[in-house]
Amino acid sequence: MTELILGLETSCDETAAAVISDGGAILSNVISSQAQIHARYGGVVPEVASRRHLELVEPVVADALEQAGAALEDVSAIGVTQGPGLVGALLVGLSYAKGLSWASGVPLVPVDHLRGHVASLFLGEEPLAPPFLCLLASGGHTLLLVVRDYDSHEVIGGTRDDAAGEAFDKGARLLGLGYPGGPALDRLARTGDATAYRFPIARMEGLDFSFSGVKTALLYAVKDLGDAALAEQRADLAASYERAIVQALLQRIEQAAESMSMETVAVVGGVAANSALRAGLLARGVRVAPLALCTDNGAMIASAARYAPKLLETDYLSIDAYSSR
Ligand SMILES: Nc1ncnc2c1ncn2[C@@H]1O[C@H](COP(=O)(O)OP(=O)(O)OP(=O)(O)O)[C@@H](O)[C@H]1O
Ligand SMILES: [Mg+2]
Repeated sequence: MTELILGLETSCDETAAAVISDGGAILSNVISSQAQIHARYGGVVPEVASRRHLELVEPVVADALEQAGAALEDVSAIGVTQGPGLVGALLVGLSYAKGLSWASGVPLVPVDHLRGHVASLFLGEEPLAPPFLCLLASGGHTLLLVVRDYDSHEVIGGTRDDAAGEAFDKGARLLGLGYPGGPALDRLARTGDATAYRFPIARMEGLDFSFSGVKTALLYAVKDLGDAALAEQRADLAASYERAIVQALLQRIEQAAESMSMETVAVVGGVAANSALRAGLLARGVRVAPLALCTDNGAMIASAARYAPKLLETDYLSIDAYSSR
């Protein structure tokens, strides 16, 4: 009989829950984004996020179960994000999941959020199988990973300063595009000329990344223009800025694949939703996570839970959330 896994994710500003089968089919994937609430502050306010998770976690889980046509008793494991992320936000999901496990007797599986992003590739009709080289590019991380097994990875490169998603968000803010910035910059860039400005691509040692230089270059370009000219140039600036980030990612992926002799390459995380990056990756035969699974979601957490140890009552009661690795 097919076993079902419930996945719960509350590490940042998405309250998300999903039900998957033990074969990796997604039966439901409910995501309630708080982006609108945080938009007026220009970024996620941790305390506000925790309070909203508290209101949303129960209905979101109930919705995920209902859409999957399942009851809690049908579930064989509850996967939940343990970290990294905002500790207050994580604690809401983790405490709720502990309560569910305690009440139902279903084992709990604490999941690392980054392993969750990688596990977005193990779902659906055409799941990817290790080994592969993986770029994880999200709001808080930009990492090159060698994934040899379903349950582990080795870090071979990372950013020295901003994450790629953070660079998108900060660039969007400089261009007056509001929050969340990455998707807005993506949309605007489609209408601009990506060769209008030459923004720098950092040359770091080894397989590391740096995005602070391109961000500073955009800051000066915006300052030099003044308001009227900026309005006219905004789309070209967005397209050129996006191009510099995308090129930096594509170049590093190619270099890493060659130096590690890895044939299969994949990209996961919120930045993998970027349309210019997706086009560049598809042209190079690189696998990219399905669009709906790039930004935070419960399905990827349930997917990672398939390959992580199950904790039985009372072993999970003492586990704690962690903000960083
Ligand atoms: N279309 C897009 N183009 C560029 N960036 C995007 C796009 N869509 C989302 N992003 C970026 O992806 C990031 C969100 O991704 P994700 O949800 O994976 O990050 P996170 O969970 O906040 O961080 P982490 O996973 O590192 O803890 C944001 O920085 C956002 O701007
Ligand atoms: Mg994430």
